[in-house]
Amino acid sequence: MKRSRRLSHIHWLEERTGLLTLTARLLEGRVERRGAWLRTTGMTCFILLLIMAVTGAILGLFYTPSPDSAYKDILALEANPMTRFLRGLHHWGAAALILFSLLTIVRMFFGAEYRRRGDLPWIASILFFILVLKLQLTGHLLPWDTSAVATAGIEAGIAGNVWVVGPYLQRFLLGGPLLNADTLTRWYGFHVLLLPAALLLLVGLPLLASRLRPVGAQEETAEPDAAAPTDPYYPTHMAREMVVAAGVFLAIAALAHFTRTPLEQEATAENLQGYVARAEWYVMPLHALIEIPPFNNAALEPIASVLLPGALITALILLPFLDRSPERRLRRRPFALIAGVLTLTAAIALSVYSLWKEQPPASAPSGSSPAGQQAAPPPADAGGLNLERVAQGKQLYEAQGCGGCHRIAGQGSQMGTDLTAIGRRRPDREWHIAHLVDPKTKIPGSPMPTYAHLKREELEALAEYLVSLR
Ligand code: HEC
Repeated sequence: MKRSRRLSHIHWLEERTGLLTLTARLLEGRVERRGAWLRTTGMTCFILLLIMAVTGAILGLFYTPSPDSAYKDILALEANPMTRFLRGLHHWGAAALILFSLLTIVRMFFGAEYRRRGDLPWIASILFFILVLKLQLTGHLLPWDTSAVATAGIEAGIAGNVWVVGPYLQRFLLGGPLLNADTLTRWYGFHVLLLPAALLLLVGLPLLASRLRPVGAQEETAEPDAAAPTDPYYPTHMAREMVVAAGVFLAIAALAHFTRTPLEQEATAENLQGYVARAEWYVMPLHALIEIPPFNNAALEPIASVLLPGALITALILLPFLDRSPERRLRRRPFALIAGVLTLTAAIALSVYSLWKEQPPASAPSGSSPAGQQAAPPPADAGGLNLERVAQGKQLYEAQGCGGCHRIAGQGSQMGTDLTAIGRRRPDREWHIAHLVDPKTKIPGSPMPTYAHLKREELEALAEYLVSLR
């Protein structure tokens, strides 16, 4: 009696939604046995994404996206064992997500899984990787610690160097001319609303729809070597997926429990002064590329920061339409093999280079360099200022919103260096021009945005004004 009533509930649901049929369709299909364990990374990404959504939603309850409270909120989260663990899960889960979405792309590439009906999952995986990286970049700002603000400044600076659209892009990213409270509001919005929505619409829905495609489409997808042994998706392959996902979950839970989730000092002016941001591991290849000549020049930087990665991503997305040969075995695809291995080797080599480059420079014994910077005597030509230029520079200083980060004689923000007597400490106009064009070349890791879009006379006027501050 009871049993039949429950059955009738299910009938009720099935009649109205078709949920049973849909679930059955999700679970049908077969998976090639060769390399089956490697084919579990997609499900791991899905489960990691669920973990991120749940932990993120809970963390959001205790967080206000404002420079006044953000850092304090994170300290409070760290003070409670439960929320500290959740923050750890969210942090390490993000790392695992980047890793596993990358692994999925690598596997699909070398296994030629992007062929035929694999094209849609392939493009979805690439979009997934890009969106996950964007989530990571925006999420990194939220704690509002020194690393967060300095890194965001560098990223905005890189965006600002893009030809033609750079200044607009930078403004769009910062939510105004400056990295400040508006930036935090904006990146929080990207992180919790826009990017997750894009993930759902651009990746989730197409993948779900392709899994739910009408019965009968199965035969068409049969691969050339259909004779290879296969397993049913449910339960055999799904069991493998669950084993791997559970292992990954245990790993990030252990990291969250036993290690300290990174948090640096609050991003205040004093703490940011002289702070050198280290590149995060997920941007290291790009970071290194930007440091290598000739790309370490603001005018050529977009080649490394936009053109090369953009070309790589475009080529990958177009791959299913370019590479139509039926051959799947790697040995018979020497071009794909060489291109794939070269790209991976280059990315690893660049990361190693970036790590090596970040060792504190041996040529700067402590004591010599700070002294040289700070105790410079007033220049001999103390009176030799072009007053017209100074006035023009002062106007520019205000128009460009430098005061949003800098303070002069008690006026302005404390986020950046106090410039009240900067002319005494840095009397060299060329230094200022070079610093304004590309702050990083003068002060490694500087979060200050670039002003490369200003005209030469404008830069000279700003420099004159800065030198006049004594
Ligand atoms: C988004 C915040 C921000 C904005 C906007 C900004 N700066 Fe900076 N600036 C910094 C930070 C942080 C530093 C410290 C790191 C460095 O020296 O690059 C700095 C450093 C400097 C220094 C070097 C100080 C030193 O220690 O030698 C000068 C000069 C300077 N800024 C001038 C300007 C001028 C002029 C503008 C406007 C055209 C400007 N800044 C806009 C954040 C900013």
